[in-house]
Amino acid sequence: MHNKYMTDGADCFSQAIGAGVDPSGLPWHELDPALLREKRNSIKWTRYPADVLPLFVAEMDFAVAPEIQRAIIRAVEASDTGYLAEPGPLADAIASFAQDSWGWQIRNEHVHLATDVATGLVEAFRVFRPAGGRLALPTPCYPGFFEILLELNFEIVEIPLLPGVAAGSDGSEFGSAGSLDLAAIEQAFASEDGIDAFLLCNPHNPHGIPFTSVELSKLAELAAKHDVFVASDEIHAPLTHSHATFTPFAPIAAKAGAHSVTTTSASKGWNLAGSKCSVIVAADDRANELLQTLPPEVATRTSILGLHANVAAFNDAREWLGRTVSQIEANQRLLISLLNDRLPAVRYVPGSTGYLAWIDLNGLGLGDEPVERVLQEARVALNNGSDFGLGGAGFARLNMAASPHTIVQAIDRIAELVSARR
Ligand SMILES: Cc1ncc(COP(=O)(O)O)c(C=O)c1O
Repeated sequence: MHNKYMTDGADCFSQAIGAGVDPSGLPWHELDPALLREKRNSIKWTRYPADVLPLFVAEMDFAVAPEIQRAIIRAVEASDTGYLAEPGPLADAIASFAQDSWGWQIRNEHVHLATDVATGLVEAFRVFRPAGGRLALPTPCYPGFFEILLELNFEIVEIPLLPGVAAGSDGSEFGSAGSLDLAAIEQAFASEDGIDAFLLCNPHNPHGIPFTSVELSKLAELAAKHDVFVASDEIHAPLTHSHATFTPFAPIAAKAGAHSVTTTSASKGWNLAGSKCSVIVAADDRANELLQTLPPEVATRTSILGLHANVAAFNDAREWLGRTVSQIEANQRLLISLLNDRLPAVRYVPGSTGYLAWIDLNGLGLGDEPVERVLQEARVALNNGSDFGLGGAGFARLNMAASPHTIVQAIDRIAELVSARR
């Protein structure tokens, strides 16, 4: 069956190149990895030697939106560089973005500050499940979750996602990169040991799955029935692709009577991880009562420059976000055509959110640790699927938020390694 990905490779490349600039208007040659390495100090540019192409950590190569750059400069010029106690204008900004993007009505008093989404999750779990207990999460998942959970007293129960369905094979144009195993979730919730907390990643990293309202309603119903606290990490939601629908969990949880909070930030959508500002949003008044008991230091540890950056992102940099999502979609089509042409043994069910591609390298004949071989011999750094929990072995996570030239170069290098093996 014909699907949208069956386009000519050269077409895909010229579409990804577009007008020759990134979403901020920077010419692609300025995103040459050698140049970025000279200017940036983040993990992406410092973890590996200069000959390694870094397509691992979830940072974008695109320049920060000019609207955000100006907001940070204005704050510094005004010496507005002190402490925070309240979300202030950020509550309005996130509420209006959530309303306009997804029809989710957030009450300003339900919005609480935290340094970053990782901290927001830790603090929320501390308040809602002070004694710890058993925490379930769908895997493979963002490896940072396992690190975050080390700070808490939970026994972790991994519940693998159901596999994805490739575009065309189920008669749909886009397929699905995976779904929640609701039968297994129900079994775990209802088991003798039970489950105390559930860590939902919606949209799910690394697959890029925005879960459907049907799945989320069932999860909320089960959580309410078995008194499971759900923290929904929605950091990737602003990057939902144009053909897909993102459904926030909070309104569904509130309706079902499930105890839940949402953690989010502009940090992923607008590439502001270093600006250290996020929010925890209560799904309802009952959840908010507990969030009001967060230690005041949680808000104070949030960066005021990050707050200005988040406000500018949600209010003023929406067109930049639109251009970024379009660029990611074009880069994803390019990746698909490159894999089809040069690495047909790689399996990839495209996700519909964000810029991370979850690819199955098991068919490449590169042994049990293909990502290590790709790093050592092809000099391309990907995230190793075995760090993502059950179901991740032999997979890799590849970051597509780069210049199309970088993506072509990375796939060329891996294809050369694979053909040298034959
Ligand atoms: C699902 C998810 N949650 C949280 C984080 C970390 O976010 P922050 O830097 O705001 O703590 C990431 C980073 O990639 C992520 O993918």
